[in-house]
Amino acid sequence: MSMSRRDSLRLATFSAVAAPLAGAVVSCGNGTGGNDSGNENEGSTGRLLESAADLPEPGTVPLPVPPVLEPRSSDAEADYYVITQRSGEAEILPGLITEVWGYDGIFPGPTIVSRTGRRTVVEHRNDLPVPVAVHLHGGHTPPEHDGYPTDLIFPRSGWESRYELPGDTTEGSRVYEYPMNQPAATLWYHDHRMDFTGPQVYKGLAGFHLVHDDEEEALPLPTGDRDVPLMICDRAFDEDGSFLYPALSSDLVSEPGVANQYMSGVLGDAILVNGAPWPYLEVADVRYRFRLLNASNARRYRLVLDPAPEGVAPFVQVASDAGLLGAPIEHDAIVTAPAERFDVIVDFSGYSVGTEVVLVNEFGEGRTAEVMRFRVTSEARDDTEIPDRLSDFVPLTRESADAEHRARFSREAPNTHGPGPNLWTINGQTFSPDTVDARIPLDSTQVWRLTTNVHHPVHLHLVRFQVLSRNGGAPGPYDAGWKDTIDLGSEEEAEIIMTFSGYRGKFVYHCHNLEHEDMMMMANFEVT
Ligand code: C2O
Ligand code: CU
Ligand code: CU
Repeated sequence: MSMSRRDSLRLATFSAVAAPLAGAVVSCGNGTGGNDSGNENEGSTGRLLESAADLPEPGTVPLPVPPVLEPRSSDAEADYYVITQRSGEAEILPGLITEVWGYDGIFPGPTIVSRTGRRTVVEHRNDLPVPVAVHLHGGHTPPEHDGYPTDLIFPRSGWESRYELPGDTTEGSRVYEYPMNQPAATLWYHDHRMDFTGPQVYKGLAGFHLVHDDEEEALPLPTGDRDVPLMICDRAFDEDGSFLYPALSSDLVSEPGVANQYMSGVLGDAILVNGAPWPYLEVADVRYRFRLLNASNARRYRLVLDPAPEGVAPFVQVASDAGLLGAPIEHDAIVTAPAERFDVIVDFSGYSVGTEVVLVNEFGEGRTAEVMRFRVTSEARDDTEIPDRLSDFVPLTRESADAEHRARFSREAPNTHGPGPNLWTINGQTFSPDTVDARIPLDSTQVWRLTTNVHHPVHLHLVRFQVLSRNGGAPGPYDAGWKDTIDLGSEEEAEIIMTFSGYRGKFVYHCHNLEHEDMMMMANFEVT
C-alpha cells in the first residue's frame, strides 16, 4: 500500500515539471530553487512564491482577533462544541475576495478556550470537498482523538478515494474528545490530512485552542483585551485574490505534493496576522501578553520591535509551546519556526503616546521584513506585573531516562528509491502508516537525539519535552520550557527528553515544515 502511494507521489512530482504553475510568478531566494542549503530566504528552507495581486500598504488594516467559540452545551465535566469545516469568503486584501477553507468558514478558525482537567468535546463536520483530519497541536490526547493522518473525515457530500489508505475513517463528521489533562498553554488546532496538510492549512484550516488553569490565573499577567493571540503566517495571492499554492492537483483530490521546485517549502510574500495583511493594533502604554504562533507552512521569523522600547526588554517570554516557563526570560528578538509558540509580554510603557512600533521580521526582505504595527494611542493604568517565578517547572534529568532513540531528518537521494524527486525522510524512511520507528513502554522517559541536514522544525505528538542540549552544548535561547516543537538548523543536533505518559497507541512525529511533512518526513512511535 505504501509502495503504491510512494509510486504515485513520485509520478505526480515528475509530471509537474512539464506543467508549469498557472498564474504564478516564481522567483527564487538566491538562485537555486528547491535547494537545501541552510540559509536561503534569510533563515527559511523554501522557495518564494510571489503574489500576482496588489498587496496593501503595511499598517492599513486593523488586527482582527478570532472569535471565541461558544459551547453548544455543557455539563458537570465537559463542554461540547460543533465546528463545520466549509468554504468561506474573506476580504483579506482590500477590495478582493479570497475563498478560504475554514473552521466554521473563517480563517483563523474560532478560538476554543478550555480549562485544565475539564473535558473538551468537539464535533467536526466536513462540508469541504476533500477529506480532513483535525489535530490538536500540543494536546495530550488519546490516539483515536489525535487526528492521525489517515483517520480521515470524508466530506458530507460523499467521497470516492483515488488511492487507498488504511485508517479509521468516518463519513461526514467525527467527535474528538480532549481530556485536557495538561497545564495552561497556547495550543492550536489544524488540518492533518495525510499528504495534503500543507495546502489545507494554507487555505485556512488553523485556529487557536487556549488552555487556562489556576496556576496561570493566579499570576498578575495581562488578561482580557490585553492578552492577544497572534497567528503569524505567510501567503501568496493570485490576481483575483485567491490563495496561490503550487499544489500538483489544484482540487486537492488526486495527486499529493507540490511542484518539485517547492519541495523545500512554500514561502508567501504577504505576511498575515490573524488572517490580515500587515495589520495594526492600537494599544495603551501598558503591558500586553501576545501569544505568538508561527502558523506558516515553512517560513521562520526573527521578530524585533522597531524602535526598541526605552528602559524595558522588548520581549519577556512567559510561556513556551506547552506551558508557562519556570521564570520569565528577556529577549531582544524572538526567532520562531513553524508551529512554535512564544507567549511574550511587551511593555508599551517603554514608548511615549503617539509612537508607531513596527514588529519587524529580520529574516525577511522587502515586504516580508515587516509583520505588523502597534500604535501607542493612549495612556492607561497598569496593575500587571511579571513575577520572578511563573510556574512549578521541574527540569528532567538525563539520569531519569530509561532509553535513547535517534532520529535523523534528511533528504533521501533519488537513486535510493528509483528515478524521481527527492523525498524527505526520517532515519532514511519515508512515512508509512504501517511502520513503527520507535516502541516505547508507557510511562518511560527517553532521550531522543535529533539530527538534521537542513532546517527542520521537529514536532512530536502526545508529549511535551525539554531540550537537554544543542550541538553538544547548552540549549539555545528559544529552547526553554516545555516544548512540543524544536527549531533545528542545518546540520544541527539536539537532545530532547520526555516522558511518554497517559495513553498507549500509535502517534506520529514529523517535520512541521508542511511541505516536508507532506513529502513524507513523518514517522510513527508507539506507546506500548
Ligand atoms: Cu501541528 Cu502533527 O502537527
Ligand atoms: Cu501535534
Ligand atoms: Cu523539514
